[in-house]
Parts: sequence; structure tokens; C-alpha cells
Amino acid sequence: MSSAHAAEIAAGQRFAFGANWARFLDQLDTARIQAAEDSLRRLLGVAHLQGLRMLDVGCGSGLFSLAARRLGARVHSFDYDLQSVACTLELRRRYRPDDPDWQVESGSVLDSAYLQGLGQWDLVYAWGVLHHSGDLARAMANVVGLVAADGRLFIAIYNDQGRASRTWLRVKRAYNRLPSGLRWLVLTPAALRLWGPTMIRDLLAGRPLHSWRHYARTSTRGMSPWRDVVDWVGGLPFEVATPEEVFRFYRDRGFRLEELTTSGGLGCNEFVFRRD
Ligand SMILES: C[S@@+](CC[C@H](N)C(=O)[O-])C[C@H]1O[C@@H](n2cnc3c(N)ncnc32)[C@H](O)[C@@H]1O
Repeated sequence: MSSAHAAEIAAGQRFAFGANWARFLDQLDTARIQAAEDSLRRLLGVAHLQGLRMLDVGCGSGLFSLAARRLGARVHSFDYDLQSVACTLELRRRYRPDDPDWQVESGSVLDSAYLQGLGQWDLVYAWGVLHHSGDLARAMANVVGLVAADGRLFIAIYNDQGRASRTWLRVKRAYNRLPSGLRWLVLTPAALRLWGPTMIRDLLAGRPLHSWRHYARTSTRGMSPWRDVVDWVGGLPFEVATPEEVFRFYRDRGFRLEELTTSGGLGCNEFVFRRD
């Protein structure tokens, strides 16, 4: 799998998510971990995850595996990108060394044989992952069997903005095709497009860079504004879905929608489904 992954990156078809996460780990602190815990608690409507088994699909930095573990869940994390796996292992080493209730490994949500061996889970968490797998429909179908009866599926999928989404796909392709030394040519204008209006608003309100500096809190997931910009501009493969498409897909497979946060534009719609 790692050689296929490396080939996709070399061909400009896949963003090196794990390399971006590795830089994010330098900025990780207690406030960000707390924000990740709050985000899980809020969307799931619970005070803790004691007694639950959580599967973190596409664990990325490992921040949400760590948050779930701190909230009491037993956690199994996997990611397709070996650098993401390394980040998650690093977080486990830092914060939960020798923890027998947190497993970390490489794996793909598109690998049905691998998924079958994982069994079923009380909580399947796949935030911002399925649309980056390269086959959104298959990834959405593949997570169904991972959810135990009465278990929950917590997913976030990029909002379909029509023409704007197609433009971003072109931007992402251009970014990934460029040699790394030239990627700033795409990144800089895209970052200005994403953050320029907010920065001007903050400046006019007499609080320059306020939103940027407080992003870890206001983004509600403990993320870093620059790492999120790089992830957004680079994030390839990239697919999108409307909230209605996602809702109907899981409703038709025996899931009930318990919680929904729509992005209203750029970014992800978040869903919590319960399996009946
Ligand atoms: C935007 S990050 C989200 C990380 C994390 N879930 C979070 O909430 O912060 C997307 C992650 O999905 C992973 N990914 C992409 N395709 C995947 C696949 N087929 N199977 C598992 N993980 C995948 C990427 O390597 C990356 O770490």
C-alpha cells in the first residue's frame, strides 16, 4: 500500500496529508486537545465515551483518537498515509505510552478485506476522510458494515458547492502537480482568497488578525489556520456531496440522522447517524 500511495503522490494525484499533519503536531497543546474533546462531546451529545469502542477511520494527526481515548473510549486508529500513522503513533507515545486500549495501524477505507477483519464498532469516526479516499461512494458504503447495531457513525464530507467545488478541484490539481518549491504560486493566492476578506473585516473592526489568532478555538476542532489552509488547497483526491445526498444514502441503509451541522458554503457538512 505504501508504494501505491507514494506513486499517487509522485503523480500529483494525492496530497501528502501526513506531512502536513506532522507539522501540525509541533503546535499541539492542551487547549487544542481540549477543543477536540469538546467537539466530540458536543456533536455526540455526551459527557464522555466510557465503555465505547471507537474506530477512527483516516486518523490523520491522531488528535481525535487521543481526544476519544481521553474521554474513555477504547480506540482503533488507521490511515492510508504512513506519515499520518506515524503522527498518531507519536501522539500515543507522547500522551498515552503503553496504552493497551489504543491501537494504531495503516489501512484503507477502500480495502474491503481489511475492513472485514476489523469487526463492528460502537462509534465509527471518519471526519474529512471519505471524500479524500479517491472513491467517495465506495468509501461511504464501506463504513456501513463497520457500525454495530445501535452504534453511531460520525462523518464529515465536503459540501457540494457546484461550480465553486469544480474550481477548487482545479486548484488542488494544479497545486499537487507543481514541484514542491513552486507550490506557493497556487497556495498564496488561494490563501488570500480564503482568508483575505476575514482579515480585512478584522482590520476594519480594529482587531487585526483576531480570527486567525483565535482559530484553534473558533474552528471548534483545535486545528491550526495555516495547516487547514494547506490541507484545503492541497487536499486531493477531492469529492463533494450535498447534505441531502449523504442523508438519503445512509437512511436507505438503515441509519437515522441524529445530528447535522451544515457548512453553508466551503468546508464540510457534519453528520451523526445512528444504526437502527
Ligand atoms: C483531512 S484529513 C482528516 C484527519 C482526521 N480524520 C481529522 O479529523 O483531523 C484526511 C485523512 O484521511 C486519510 N485518508 C485518505 N484516504 C484514505 C483511505 N483510503 N483510507 C484511510 N484514510 C485515508 C488521509 O491520509 C488523511 O490523513
